This record gives sequence, C-alpha cells and structure tokens, in this order.
Amino acid sequence: MKIAVIGTGYVGLVTGACLADLGHSVTGVDKDEGKIERLNRGEVTIYEVGLPELLSRHLGRSLSFTTDTAEAVAASEIVFITVGTPQGEDGAADMSYVMEAAGDIAGAIDGYKIVVNKSTMPVGSTRLVERVIKERAGGEEFDVVSNPEFLREGTAVRDFMHPDRIVVGTESQRAAGIMAELYRPLNAPLFITDPASAEMIKYASNAFLATKVSFINAIANICEAVDADVKEVAMGMGYDRRIGFEFLRSGPGFGGSCFPKDCQALINIARHSGYSFYLLEGVMQVNREQMELMARKVERRLGDLRGKRIAAWGLAFKANTDDVRDSPALEIIRLLLEGGAEISAYDPRAMENAREAMPELSCAASALEAAEGADLLLILTDWDEFKLQDFRRVGEVMKGREIIDTRNCLEPLSVRRLGFNYEGVGR
Ligand SMILES: NC(=O)c1ccc[n+]([C@@H]2O[C@H](COP(=O)([O-])OP(=O)(O)OC[C@H]3O[C@@H](n4cnc5c(N)ncnc54)[C@H](O)[C@@H]3O)[C@@H](O)[C@H]2O)c1
Repeated sequence: MKIAVIGTGYVGLVTGACLADLGHSVTGVDKDEGKIERLNRGEVTIYEVGLPELLSRHLGRSLSFTTDTAEAVAASEIVFITVGTPQGEDGAADMSYVMEAAGDIAGAIDGYKIVVNKSTMPVGSTRLVERVIKERAGGEEFDVVSNPEFLREGTAVRDFMHPDRIVVGTESQRAAGIMAELYRPLNAPLFITDPASAEMIKYASNAFLATKVSFINAIANICEAVDADVKEVAMGMGYDRRIGFEFLRSGPGFGGSCFPKDCQALINIARHSGYSFYLLEGVMQVNREQMELMARKVERRLGDLRGKRIAAWGLAFKANTDDVRDSPALEIIRLLLEGGAEISAYDPRAMENAREAMPELSCAASALEAAEGADLLLILTDWDEFKLQDFRRVGEVMKGREIIDTRNCLEPLSVRRLGFNYEGVGR
C-alpha cells in the first residue's frame, strides 16, 4: 500500500521504516527541513536499536522523506499522523501540531483516503480531525481512524513488529478492512472498536503502567523503613499472573515523553467530564516525590552539597534511548545543582540532547572520566555499559566511596566487597 507518515520523530520514523519493511511504499514527512535533509542522506536522527538497518535497507527504494505534505498525501492511500502532542499549559494535550497536519492533509485530499491518528490524542480527537478535514476537503471521501501506538523507546522496532495488540477505532467497515489488511503481516491480535474507546485505551494503558511504577516505588520506600528488599517483594508479587513481573521495578520515578504528559492529560479529561481522578493524581504525586527522595538520598550521604563532586551516570529517561524529555535523571541533577553540587555527567547516547535541555550541564567523555575525583557516584539510567564497568578501577579514580544506584542495576554485594558504600532503592 502507499502510505504517508506525517511527523518523523520517535513514533513516525519507526512506523515508517517498519511499514516499509513490511512491503509498503512509505513517504515520511516532517516540517523540520534539517531532519528531512539528514534522513535523506541516510543519517538516523534518533537512537533506536534496529532502525539504522531498516533505513539503509529501504531508503531510496520503498522509503523516502520530504517536507511536502501535499505531495505525500496525494500519492498515498493511508496517511498516518504521528506529530507530537506535548503537554499544554493547562495540562491537556496540545493539539496544535495535529490540527496543522490535519489542515495540510485536507488541502491535498483528492480521492478516498484513510487518515490514521497514531499520535496520542484526547478522547474525541478522531471526530475533531474528521471535522477539520471535512470543512476543507470539499466533497472528497475519507475516513479518520484512531490507531494508538504502544511502542516503547529503546525497543521500538521490536515492539512495532511484535505488538501485543493493534487497536483500531473506527465505525467505518471499509476503513477497518483496509487497516486489517495493512497490519496483516504482523499476525497480531487486531482489536477493532469505536474511536472514543480506542483513544481511551491508550490513555488508560499508560496511566495503568504509570500506576504500577508509582505503586512499587511507594512499596520500595516502605521497604527501606522496614528492612525488606523491594526486588524480592516485586519478584514474589510478579509470580502471581494477575499481577505480572512487568513495570514493578522501583527506581527514580517514571519519565519520558509519554507517561507524565499522558497521565496529566487523562486527569484533565476526567476533570472536564466531571470526575476527579484522585488515584492518578496520587500516582503523579508519588512520582514527583520519588525524584526528590533520590536527591535527598544523596544529601544524606554527602551532607552539605556545596563543593561536592557527583558523577552522574545516565541522562536518558531510560536505557537504550537518546531521549531526555521529562527524564528523571535531569530533574534529579537539577535538584542537586540547586543544592550547590558539582556534577560530571555521562551517558552513552543522550549527552547531545541533554546539553540542549540543560546547557549548564558539564559532561565527561566516558563513565570513568565522569567518576574522576567524585565524592559520590549516582546511577540514574540503567545502561548495560554501567553494569559492566570495572568498579575496582572506578574506585581508584573516585575520591569518595559512595554509590547511589537509583535503578537497582548493580549487585550490592560485589561493589560492597570493593569497599563502596552502596545504596539502592527500597533495598
Ligand atoms: N515516543 C514514544 O515512545 C511514543 C510512544 C507511543 C505514542 N507516542 C505518541 O506519538 C506522538 C509522537 O511522539 P514522538 O515521540 O514521535 O514525537 P517527536 O516530537 O519525536 O516527533 C514529532 C515530529 O513531528 C514533526 N511535526 C510537527 N508538526 C508537524 C506537521 N504539521 N507536519 C509535519 N511534521 C510535523 C516534528 O518536527 C517532529 O519531528 C505523540 O502523540 C506521543 O504521545 C509516543
């Protein structure tokens, strides 16, 4: 099938490259000319495992990139909207990029097309996009469907290719049939429902996962007080199939471009419909406090932070991505800088984005270099590179012997044996 993907960020680029790999002919569109130039040169603009291979396999063949939305839409049967829906000032999703994309699509419709809302959009957005397009597209035939995306950065290509389910929200049988055909090669459960339910499924899923994270973080904080080990607790809970092992890892709190903004958007959706979502407000509150708790752990170890040197390993909001949007690492570093600490940071992939988000951040060329002369080592993202460090060597270059591991990714015994004072979360 011929497909246009509007927005070539984390979701759009992965969606486009994967659909090309499934045999479709894909045009990726972005307003950002620099991004499109880089993509057309074969440069991969985000760090995502498996993406470079897909791009080099399909670029110039079944995958191309342009800034011209009209041309891409005119040449396509299916148009995906994958632009950002960041948090607006009032907490609701900012729909301005979606509205702009919908307007551009409307101007180019010249025959039956399916417009697919893949970005995470508030309930009612399928109808909204439909209305915007109808107003400008004259009598051209089209359907708008909701098809939320559940991929995770870091494993995005694998998640797209092997989804637990594909959700399609539409009342058009014609559109449902074409969407089923599009995704048929994935051989995944296809759940067809009404648009509002599809939109709600995305928010409810993210809010539920965020709830699991805050829940285990709250348990971790109690574990610290009663001398239990949250890793053991989570393991013992996870064997219960009703609970499961996933998303029960305590840490510095959830971040990234989805959970915080989607939870906030759902709280807003609830409020506007007359329901106070206290449970989710609590989840957000626990999450904010978790980051503060991590900074306080450091203070407890070092006392007055002024003049203290901290090696911060990890800036991305989680391992295997270069994304620092709403990263707990940056929030914790900000709190420590406010307290007067000197930070030397290192991340295998996210330093460029982190420097843009936090220009005052001082970065080192390697994990070991960051540790040089440090009073305390603070692990903020669980990259494998950190777990595999030679901690004897790390101990030699550090000034102090303190390790705070906010990801519980080190073996406490093995670093304690080397003379470190190790502290994790909830252990
Ligand atoms: N990042 C994730 O892990 C993830 C997972 C599932 C769902 N989502 C949702 O997918 C959507 C996109 O997220 P993302 O992380 O890929 O965003 P992103 O910011 O990485 O990418 C958005 C892209 O859209 C482009 N853009 C904006 N307006 C445009 C327009 N009118 N025409 C063409 N291009 C335009 C931007 O230049 C940018 O390159 C969001 O709604 C997000 O909530 C994200």
